[in-house]
Amino acid sequence: LRQARDRLQIELDQRQRREGEIRRLNQELTLRASELAAANKELESFTYSVSHDLRAPLRHLVGFSELLRKHASSSLDEKGQKYVETIFDAGKRMGSLIDDLLTFSRIGRTESRMATVDLQGLITEAIAEVKQQTNGRDIHWEVGAFPACHGDRSLLKLVMLNLLSNAVKFSSLRKPARIEVGALEGSATSVEIYVKDNGVGFDMEYAGKLFGVFQRLHRTDEFEGTGIGLATVQRIAQRHGGSVRAEGAVDRGATFYVSLPREK
Ligand SMILES: Nc1ncnc2c1ncn2[C@@H]1O[C@H](COP(=O)(O)OP(=O)(O)OP(=O)(O)O)[C@@H](O)[C@H]1O
Ligand SMILES: [Mg+2]
Repeated sequence: LRQARDRLQIELDQRQRREGEIRRLNQELTLRASELAAANKELESFTYSVSHDLRAPLRHLVGFSELLRKHASSSLDEKGQKYVETIFDAGKRMGSLIDDLLTFSRIGRTESRMATVDLQGLITEAIAEVKQQTNGRDIHWEVGAFPACHGDRSLLKLVMLNLLSNAVKFSSLRKPARIEVGALEGSATSVEIYVKDNGVGFDMEYAGKLFGVFQRLHRTDEFEGTGIGLATVQRIAQRHGGSVRAEGAVDRGATFYVSLPREK
């Protein structure tokens, strides 16, 4: 009996030690999580203030190069005029990069409003908006059926607008262009939406890069843009606990997938 009691005591001690250890690890984890949240917040506000502060000197640069172009162009030779033009264009471009960065950092800063989202309605709306900028283009649209999901409607609209406008942009050389928007089964807890086009595509070797801020695989003189669209898509998907992936081949079109939580 005594032996049994001793064994029980040892087990009890061990259990208490383990529980203490778990409590300690839990506390450590909570601490780490709040440290991470704080660091994230700091990074967000850093991005925000840097972009914000860069705007003022940039306004001068663009403003004065414009003045130079207007008032002093007669005293500049052709080369000089070209230089001023280049300064002006580069300043403008930097301005739109900064604006994009600000918009991007805002996504991380604002509270999301999660609710049931009627994806069918949202996607119909987004397609109608994108179609307004496709006058004169020959595009065959194929649009599937979509279930409801759980998310922030305005952020998810941004996701769709970005993917659809990419599909339209990178298929601009095709006659006709084909764009397919649909939903895959996903899993018990997620739905997967895809946007597929028959445009210029991309090399799969760089597929991971596409979602980085300002990362582009095509030159600005071929297809304009700053390279913030897919970074925005990824950030929003991740905020929803979802993910993104891309498939493509050079000259054979591209497909972008976003998985989102199902309706609760
Ligand atoms: N549908 C697509 N087909 C081929 N390449 C694509 C497609 N969508 C995106 N890409 C590639 O991924 C890059 C990043 O896309 P992203 O949407 O972030 O930038 P962007 O469209 O160039 O500019 P922005 O969206 O900021 O106007 C693009 O520059 C292009 O090289
Ligand atoms: Mg884009």
